Amino acid sequence: MNFLLETLQVLVMTLYYNLENVVRMVIPVRRKSVAGEIVLITGAGSGIGRLLALDFARLGARLVLWDINQEGTKETARLLLEQHSNRANTYVCDCSDRAEVYRVADQVKREVGDVTILINNAGIVTGKKFLESPDALIEKTVQVNSMAHFWTYKAFLPAMIAGNHGHLVSIASSAGLIGVNALADYCASKFAAVGFAESMALELLATGVDGVKTTIVCPFFINTGMFDGANTKWPIMMPILQPDYVCRKIVDAIQRDQVYLYMPRILYTVIAMKNILPTKLGVLLGQYMGAFDFMSEFKGRTKKIE
Ligand SMILES: NC(=O)c1ccc[n+]([C@@H]2O[C@H](COP(=O)([O-])OP(=O)(O)OC[C@H]3O[C@@H](n4cnc5c(N)ncnc54)[C@H](O)[C@@H]3O)[C@@H](O)[C@H]2O)c1
Repeated sequence: MNFLLETLQVLVMTLYYNLENVVRMVIPVRRKSVAGEIVLITGAGSGIGRLLALDFARLGARLVLWDINQEGTKETARLLLEQHSNRANTYVCDCSDRAEVYRVADQVKREVGDVTILINNAGIVTGKKFLESPDALIEKTVQVNSMAHFWTYKAFLPAMIAGNHGHLVSIASSAGLIGVNALADYCASKFAAVGFAESMALELLATGVDGVKTTIVCPFFINTGMFDGANTKWPIMMPILQPDYVCRKIVDAIQRDQVYLYMPRILYTVIAMKNILPTKLGVLLGQYMGAFDFMSEFKGRTKKIE
Protein backbone atom coordinates (compact mmCIF):
# COMPACT_ATOMS: atom_id res chain seq x y z
CA MET A 1 0.00 0.00 0.00
CA ASN A 2 1.36 3.44 -0.79
CA PHE A 3 1.96 6.29 1.69
CA LEU A 4 -1.13 8.33 0.75
CA LEU A 5 -3.55 5.42 0.89
CA GLU A 6 -2.21 4.11 4.21
CA THR A 7 -2.29 7.59 5.79
CA LEU A 8 -5.86 8.11 4.60
CA GLN A 9 -6.84 4.73 6.05
CA VAL A 10 -5.34 5.70 9.45
CA LEU A 11 -7.18 9.04 9.42
CA VAL A 12 -10.52 7.35 8.70
CA MET A 13 -9.88 4.75 11.44
CA THR A 14 -8.89 7.53 13.87
CA LEU A 15 -12.28 9.11 13.33
CA TYR A 16 -14.02 5.73 13.63
CA TYR A 17 -12.28 4.72 16.90
CA ASN A 18 -12.96 8.13 18.48
CA LEU A 19 -16.63 7.87 17.54
CA GLU A 20 -16.72 4.31 18.85
CA ASN A 21 -15.27 5.57 22.14
CA VAL A 22 -18.00 8.20 22.48
CA VAL A 23 -20.72 5.62 21.71
CA ARG A 24 -19.17 3.21 24.28
CA MET A 25 -19.56 5.87 26.99
CA VAL A 26 -23.31 5.70 26.44
CA ILE A 27 -23.69 2.04 25.47
CA PRO A 28 -20.91 0.04 27.18
CA VAL A 29 -19.58 -3.22 25.70
CA ARG A 30 -21.62 -6.22 26.90
CA ARG A 31 -20.09 -8.25 29.71
CA LYS A 32 -18.82 -11.66 28.62
CA SER A 33 -19.78 -14.70 30.66
CA VAL A 34 -17.08 -16.26 32.82
CA ALA A 35 -19.18 -19.28 33.85
CA GLY A 36 -17.15 -22.46 33.44
CA GLU A 37 -13.86 -20.61 32.93
CA ILE A 38 -10.89 -21.88 34.96
CA VAL A 39 -9.71 -18.84 36.91
CA LEU A 40 -6.34 -18.97 38.67
CA ILE A 41 -5.69 -16.23 41.23
CA THR A 42 -2.26 -15.79 42.83
CA GLY A 43 -2.26 -14.25 46.30
CA ALA A 44 -5.80 -15.56 46.80
CA GLY A 45 -5.36 -15.97 50.56
CA SER A 46 -6.38 -12.43 51.49
CA GLY A 47 -7.36 -8.93 50.34
CA ILE A 48 -8.21 -8.38 46.68
CA GLY A 49 -7.35 -11.96 45.71
CA ARG A 50 -9.94 -13.36 48.12
CA LEU A 51 -12.63 -10.89 47.01
CA LEU A 52 -11.97 -11.67 43.33
CA ALA A 53 -12.30 -15.38 44.08
CA LEU A 54 -15.67 -14.79 45.73
CA ASP A 55 -16.91 -12.71 42.79
CA PHE A 56 -15.79 -15.22 40.17
CA ALA A 57 -17.42 -18.01 42.19
CA ARG A 58 -20.67 -16.01 42.19
CA LEU A 59 -20.38 -15.84 38.39
CA GLY A 60 -19.98 -19.61 38.08
CA ALA A 61 -16.24 -19.90 37.37
CA ARG A 62 -14.02 -22.77 38.51
CA LEU A 63 -11.45 -21.40 40.96
CA VAL A 64 -7.79 -22.30 41.42
CA LEU A 65 -6.32 -20.49 44.43
CA TRP A 66 -2.58 -19.96 44.90
CA ASP A 67 -0.86 -18.37 47.84
CA ILE A 68 2.24 -18.80 49.94
CA ASN A 69 -0.10 -18.65 52.95
CA GLN A 70 -1.93 -21.97 53.25
CA GLU A 71 -4.29 -20.84 56.03
CA GLY A 72 -5.37 -17.88 53.89
CA THR A 73 -6.25 -19.97 50.81
CA LYS A 74 -8.05 -22.52 52.95
CA GLU A 75 -10.15 -19.75 54.46
CA THR A 76 -10.91 -18.35 50.98
CA ALA A 77 -11.94 -21.83 49.81
CA ARG A 78 -14.15 -22.21 52.89
CA LEU A 79 -15.92 -18.92 52.10
CA LEU A 80 -16.44 -19.97 48.45
CA LEU A 81 -18.06 -23.20 49.58
CA GLU A 82 -20.17 -21.53 52.26
CA GLN A 83 -21.38 -18.56 50.16
CA HIS A 84 -21.53 -20.02 46.63
CA SER A 85 -21.31 -23.83 47.04
CA ASN A 86 -18.18 -23.48 44.91
CA ARG A 87 -15.43 -26.07 45.42
CA ALA A 88 -12.06 -24.45 44.71
CA ASN A 89 -8.69 -26.15 44.25
CA THR A 90 -6.09 -24.64 46.58
CA TYR A 91 -2.32 -24.83 46.24
CA VAL A 92 0.57 -23.50 48.28
CA CYS A 93 2.84 -21.84 45.75
CA ASP A 94 5.61 -19.32 46.27
CA CYS A 95 5.24 -17.36 43.03
CA SER A 96 8.71 -15.89 43.39
CA ASP A 97 10.19 -19.35 42.85
CA ARG A 98 10.25 -20.21 39.13
CA ALA A 99 10.67 -23.97 39.63
CA GLU A 100 7.80 -24.04 42.11
CA VAL A 101 5.51 -22.10 39.73
CA TYR A 102 6.22 -24.62 36.95
CA ARG A 103 5.77 -27.61 39.27
CA VAL A 104 2.46 -26.40 40.75
CA ALA A 105 1.24 -25.28 37.30
CA ASP A 106 1.76 -28.85 35.99
CA GLN A 107 -0.20 -30.15 38.98
CA VAL A 108 -3.07 -27.72 38.19
CA LYS A 109 -3.14 -28.83 34.54
CA ARG A 110 -3.37 -32.49 35.62
CA GLU A 111 -5.91 -31.96 38.41
CA VAL A 112 -8.12 -29.17 37.05
CA GLY A 113 -7.29 -28.46 33.39
CA ASP A 114 -6.03 -25.52 31.34
CA VAL A 115 -6.34 -22.15 33.06
CA THR A 116 -8.32 -19.71 30.90
CA ILE A 117 -8.24 -16.61 33.15
CA LEU A 118 -4.92 -15.93 34.88
CA ILE A 119 -4.92 -13.23 37.57
CA ASN A 120 -1.43 -12.25 38.73
CA ASN A 121 -2.38 -10.61 42.02
CA ALA A 122 0.20 -11.71 44.64
CA GLY A 123 2.21 -8.75 45.84
CA ILE A 124 4.47 -7.50 48.62
CA VAL A 125 5.84 -4.11 49.66
CA THR A 126 9.01 -3.09 51.51
CA GLY A 127 7.79 0.42 52.36
CA LYS A 128 11.19 1.89 53.31
CA LYS A 129 13.44 4.50 51.72
CA PHE A 130 15.60 2.74 49.12
CA LEU A 131 18.94 2.92 50.95
CA GLU A 132 17.29 1.54 54.12
CA SER A 133 15.64 -1.37 52.28
CA PRO A 134 17.28 -4.75 52.90
CA ASP A 135 18.70 -6.25 49.67
CA ALA A 136 16.81 -9.49 50.20
CA LEU A 137 13.47 -7.65 50.40
CA ILE A 138 14.24 -5.62 47.28
CA GLU A 139 14.96 -8.82 45.37
CA LYS A 140 11.86 -10.52 46.72
CA THR A 141 9.68 -7.56 45.74
CA VAL A 142 10.82 -7.76 42.13
CA GLN A 143 10.47 -11.56 42.11
CA VAL A 144 6.90 -11.56 43.48
CA ASN A 145 5.52 -8.39 41.86
CA SER A 146 6.94 -8.83 38.38
CA MET A 147 9.10 -11.88 37.64
CA ALA A 148 6.38 -14.22 38.91
CA HIS A 149 4.27 -12.92 36.02
CA PHE A 150 6.87 -14.17 33.51
CA TRP A 151 6.71 -17.70 34.94
CA THR A 152 2.90 -17.91 35.14
CA TYR A 153 2.64 -16.70 31.51
CA LYS A 154 5.20 -19.34 30.45
CA ALA A 155 3.15 -21.98 32.26
CA PHE A 156 -0.38 -21.08 31.16
CA LEU A 157 -0.21 -18.94 28.02
CA PRO A 158 0.64 -21.74 25.51
CA ALA A 159 -2.74 -23.45 26.08
CA MET A 160 -4.57 -20.11 25.77
CA ILE A 161 -2.79 -19.42 22.46
CA ALA A 162 -3.56 -22.93 21.19
CA GLY A 163 -7.27 -22.38 21.85
CA ASN A 164 -7.17 -18.65 20.97
CA HIS A 165 -9.13 -18.11 24.18
CA GLY A 166 -8.14 -16.65 27.52
CA HIS A 167 -7.58 -13.58 29.67
CA LEU A 168 -4.39 -12.34 31.34
CA VAL A 169 -4.91 -10.00 34.28
CA SER A 170 -2.15 -8.04 35.95
CA ILE A 171 -2.94 -6.47 39.31
CA ALA A 172 -0.29 -3.77 39.13
CA SER A 173 -0.62 -0.36 40.81
CA SER A 174 -0.71 3.39 40.24
CA ALA A 175 2.90 3.00 41.46
CA GLY A 176 3.49 1.22 38.14
CA LEU A 177 2.67 4.43 36.26
CA ILE A 178 4.26 7.17 38.36
CA GLY A 179 7.22 7.18 40.77
CA VAL A 180 6.50 7.52 44.51
CA ASN A 181 8.80 8.73 47.28
CA ALA A 182 9.83 5.80 49.56
CA LEU A 183 8.42 3.15 47.21
CA ALA A 184 11.31 2.80 44.76
CA ASP A 185 11.62 -1.00 44.67
CA TYR A 186 7.81 -1.43 44.66
CA CYS A 187 7.42 1.14 41.85
CA ALA A 188 10.19 -0.52 39.82
CA SER A 189 8.49 -3.91 40.21
CA LYS A 190 5.06 -2.53 39.25
CA PHE A 191 6.41 -0.55 36.27
CA ALA A 192 7.92 -3.87 35.14
CA ALA A 193 4.57 -5.64 35.60
CA VAL A 194 2.78 -2.99 33.52
CA GLY A 195 5.45 -3.01 30.79
CA PHE A 196 5.42 -6.80 30.63
CA ALA A 197 1.63 -7.14 30.40
CA GLU A 198 1.39 -4.33 27.82
CA SER A 199 4.17 -5.80 25.67
CA MET A 200 2.71 -9.30 25.83
CA ALA A 201 -0.69 -7.96 24.77
CA LEU A 202 0.98 -6.45 21.70
CA GLU A 203 2.98 -9.62 21.03
CA LEU A 204 -0.27 -11.61 21.03
CA LEU A 205 -1.96 -9.16 18.66
CA ALA A 206 1.05 -9.07 16.34
CA THR A 207 0.97 -12.85 16.07
CA GLY A 208 -2.74 -12.87 15.28
CA VAL A 209 -3.90 -14.19 18.68
CA ASP A 210 -6.92 -11.97 19.14
CA GLY A 211 -8.86 -14.27 21.48
CA VAL A 212 -6.48 -13.87 24.44
CA LYS A 213 -7.31 -10.60 26.18
CA THR A 214 -5.32 -8.51 28.66
CA THR A 215 -6.42 -6.31 31.57
CA ILE A 216 -3.90 -4.14 33.43
CA VAL A 217 -5.14 -2.83 36.78
CA CYS A 218 -3.53 0.23 38.40
CA PRO A 219 -5.19 1.23 41.67
CA PHE A 220 -4.11 3.86 44.20
CA PHE A 221 -3.97 2.71 47.87
CA ILE A 222 -6.63 0.16 48.86
CA ASN A 223 -7.84 -0.41 52.38
CA THR A 224 -6.77 -4.08 52.62
CA GLY A 225 -4.04 -3.76 55.24
CA MET A 226 -1.09 -4.11 52.85
CA PHE A 227 -0.48 -0.34 52.93
CA ASP A 228 -1.72 0.40 56.45
CA GLY A 229 -0.57 3.85 57.59
CA ALA A 230 -0.02 5.19 54.05
CA ASN A 231 -2.04 8.35 53.65
CA THR A 232 -3.61 10.67 51.15
CA LYS A 233 -3.58 14.46 51.46
CA TRP A 234 -6.82 15.22 49.60
CA PRO A 235 -9.13 12.21 49.98
CA ILE A 236 -11.76 14.00 47.93
CA MET A 237 -9.47 13.82 44.87
CA MET A 238 -7.40 10.71 45.69
CA PRO A 239 -9.41 8.56 48.11
CA ILE A 240 -8.06 5.42 49.75
CA LEU A 241 -10.06 2.83 47.80
CA GLN A 242 -12.43 0.32 49.35
CA PRO A 243 -11.61 -3.34 48.49
CA ASP A 244 -15.21 -4.19 47.45
CA TYR A 245 -15.27 -1.30 44.97
CA VAL A 246 -11.87 -2.25 43.52
CA CYS A 247 -12.93 -5.87 43.13
CA ARG A 248 -16.20 -4.93 41.41
CA LYS A 249 -14.37 -2.68 38.94
CA ILE A 250 -11.76 -5.34 38.16
CA VAL A 251 -14.35 -8.04 37.44
CA ASP A 252 -16.33 -5.59 35.30
CA ALA A 253 -13.16 -4.64 33.34
CA ILE A 254 -12.35 -8.33 32.73
CA GLN A 255 -15.89 -9.08 31.57
CA ARG A 256 -15.80 -6.12 29.17
CA ASP A 257 -12.26 -6.90 27.87
CA GLN A 258 -11.08 -3.48 29.09
CA VAL A 259 -7.29 -3.23 28.70
CA TYR A 260 -6.47 -0.49 31.24
CA LEU A 261 -8.21 0.12 34.55
CA TYR A 262 -6.94 3.02 36.68
CA MET A 263 -8.57 3.85 40.02
CA PRO A 264 -9.64 6.44 41.10
CA ARG A 265 -10.61 7.96 37.73
CA ILE A 266 -8.54 11.11 38.33
CA LEU A 267 -5.46 8.94 37.72
CA TYR A 268 -6.15 9.03 33.95
CA THR A 269 -5.74 12.83 34.10
CA VAL A 270 -2.73 12.68 36.44
CA ILE A 271 -0.87 10.31 34.08
CA ALA A 272 -1.71 12.40 31.01
CA MET A 273 -0.50 15.53 32.81
CA LYS A 274 2.73 13.84 33.90
CA ASN A 275 3.57 13.35 30.22
CA ILE A 276 2.76 16.86 28.99
CA LEU A 277 3.56 19.29 31.83
CA PRO A 278 6.97 20.89 32.40
CA THR A 279 8.85 18.72 34.94
CA LYS A 280 9.04 21.43 37.64
CA LEU A 281 5.29 21.99 37.41
CA GLY A 282 4.73 18.22 37.59
CA VAL A 283 6.79 18.10 40.82
CA LEU A 284 4.87 21.08 42.25
CA LEU A 285 1.54 19.40 41.51
CA GLY A 286 2.88 16.13 42.93
CA GLN A 287 3.75 17.97 46.18
CA TYR A 288 0.32 19.61 46.18
CA MET A 289 -1.27 16.15 45.88
CA GLY A 290 0.86 14.96 48.84
CA ALA A 291 3.02 12.58 46.79
CA PHE A 292 6.11 13.27 48.94
CA ASP A 293 4.31 12.17 52.11
CA PHE A 294 2.13 9.24 51.01
CA MET A 295 4.44 6.79 52.80
CA SER A 296 5.59 8.90 55.78
CA GLU A 297 3.31 7.10 58.29
CA PHE A 298 3.46 3.69 56.56
CA LYS A 299 3.27 0.72 58.93
CA GLY A 300 2.26 -2.03 56.51
CA ARG A 301 0.24 -5.04 57.48
CA THR A 302 0.20 -5.22 61.27
CA LYS A 303 -2.67 -7.69 61.57
CA LYS A 304 -2.06 -11.34 60.74
CA ILE A 305 -3.84 -12.46 57.55
CA GLU A 306 -6.47 -14.95 58.64
N1 LIG B 1 -3.45 -2.56 49.02
C1 LIG B 1 -3.10 -1.56 48.24
O1 LIG B 1 -3.08 -0.38 48.64
C2 LIG B 1 -2.72 -1.82 46.80
C3 LIG B 1 -2.66 -0.74 45.90
C4 LIG B 1 -2.32 -0.97 44.58
C5 LIG B 1 -2.03 -2.25 44.17
N2 LIG B 1 -2.08 -3.29 45.06
C6 LIG B 1 -1.73 -4.62 44.59
O2 LIG B 1 -2.87 -5.45 44.70
C7 LIG B 1 -2.45 -6.82 44.89
C8 LIG B 1 -3.22 -7.41 46.06
O3 LIG B 1 -2.89 -6.68 47.23
P1 LIG B 1 -3.76 -6.70 48.56
O4 LIG B 1 -3.97 -5.30 48.93
O5 LIG B 1 -4.90 -7.62 48.41
O6 LIG B 1 -2.67 -7.27 49.58
P2 LIG B 1 -2.68 -8.55 50.52
O7 LIG B 1 -1.41 -8.47 51.31
O8 LIG B 1 -3.96 -8.65 51.24
O9 LIG B 1 -2.61 -9.77 49.48
C9 LIG B 1 -1.42 -10.19 48.86
C10 LIG B 1 -1.40 -11.71 48.88
O10 LIG B 1 -0.22 -12.15 48.17
C11 LIG B 1 0.31 -13.26 48.87
N3 LIG B 1 1.72 -13.43 48.55
C12 LIG B 1 2.75 -12.66 48.97
N4 LIG B 1 3.91 -13.18 48.52
C13 LIG B 1 3.59 -14.29 47.81
C14 LIG B 1 4.36 -15.25 47.10
N5 LIG B 1 5.69 -15.18 47.06
N6 LIG B 1 3.71 -16.26 46.47
C15 LIG B 1 2.35 -16.35 46.53
N7 LIG B 1 1.58 -15.48 47.20
C16 LIG B 1 2.20 -14.45 47.83
C17 LIG B 1 0.08 -12.93 50.34
O11 LIG B 1 0.17 -14.09 51.16
C18 LIG B 1 -1.31 -12.32 50.30
O12 LIG B 1 -2.30 -13.29 50.48
C19 LIG B 1 -0.94 -6.76 45.11
O13 LIG B 1 -0.28 -7.10 43.92
C20 LIG B 1 -0.68 -5.32 45.43
O14 LIG B 1 0.64 -4.92 45.10
C21 LIG B 1 -2.42 -3.10 46.36
